[in-house]
Amino acid sequence: MKGIILAGGNGTRLHPITLGVSKQLLPVYDKPMIYYPLSVLMLAGITDIQIIADPDGLPGFQRLLGDGAALGITLTYAEQDKPRGLADAFIVGAEHIGDDSVALILGDNLFHGPGFGEILRTSARDVDGCVLFGYPVSDPERYGVGEVDASGRLVRLEEKPAVSRSDLAITGLYFYDNDVVDIARRLNPSERGELEITDVNRTYLERGKAECVQLGRGFVWLDTGTHNALNEAGQYVQILFNRQGVRIGCVEEIAWRMGYIDRDTCHRLGLALSKSPYGQYLMEITSNPRYEEAS
Ligand code: DAU
Repeated sequence: MKGIILAGGNGTRLHPITLGVSKQLLPVYDKPMIYYPLSVLMLAGITDIQIIADPDGLPGFQRLLGDGAALGITLTYAEQDKPRGLADAFIVGAEHIGDDSVALILGDNLFHGPGFGEILRTSARDVDGCVLFGYPVSDPERYGVGEVDASGRLVRLEEKPAVSRSDLAITGLYFYDNDVVDIARRLNPSERGELEITDVNRTYLERGKAECVQLGRGFVWLDTGTHNALNEAGQYVQILFNRQGVRIGCVEEIAWRMGYIDRDTCHRLGLALSKSPYGQYLMEITSNPRYEEAS
């Protein structure tokens, strides 16, 4: 399975912060925002990933992450010249996807929860249709919304309904079989002129091939789209670190624990950042047996 991180857009809701820098490069506590979605794909077992961003933003991501070799993965880059909608990612990324299945994650979505790696790896296996991830929220009108029947089967999908019939938001992580490229190419733009991901998902639903994995209580899905939300996301990551000593979204640690790089390589990545607590953390986890087991 290939991966795509969509990291473009204008970031207008975060102005003036995003006038000079891409939203997905902003810090969420100790690391750039894009580390969080990148770590999700890596945890899913995906190692061939394309980052799609706007022409101004792209060089910043390339400077930050390079070709991915340091993390034992392959990263490539593609430009989206205008924000044509989330489903445009499958058109821009068609060559990268090739004949494979694909996971799309939005560069500004942060996920964290017990057993998430296992959920991801199970869902990524032999995708036939699409797999969506639902999360109950108090303000569903801000998102794509899914309605499920008594047996948990997905029966309806709507994009930002004025009045929502369900509280189940569809998060910015999606797994698809290879048909998605063709479906995206046949889409018509919505009223706001975008190729909507919800229209792609509805096509799968109509074919009886849309599954919704529900991320339940105790799971965290955070949005970073407003000043408050960005701040809160940083505080969440900070609290976990201060209380438990774990750093979530730490791509070097995940690369090591997933077996993409060995312990020494991970240690050296820490050494290169050793003036920062982030680098010191990498050195500590790779030398202290207390961190042997995945936390
Ligand atoms: O976050 C989950 C939600 O993401 C879903 O529940 C919705 O169904 C989905 O439409 C989307 O809603 P948003 O209102 O968050 O979409 P937005 O236009 O803000 O784009 C999400 C991110 O993707 C944002 O960081 C900018 C980036 N983006 C967006 C567009 C339209 C691109 O990189 N390219 C684009 O063309």
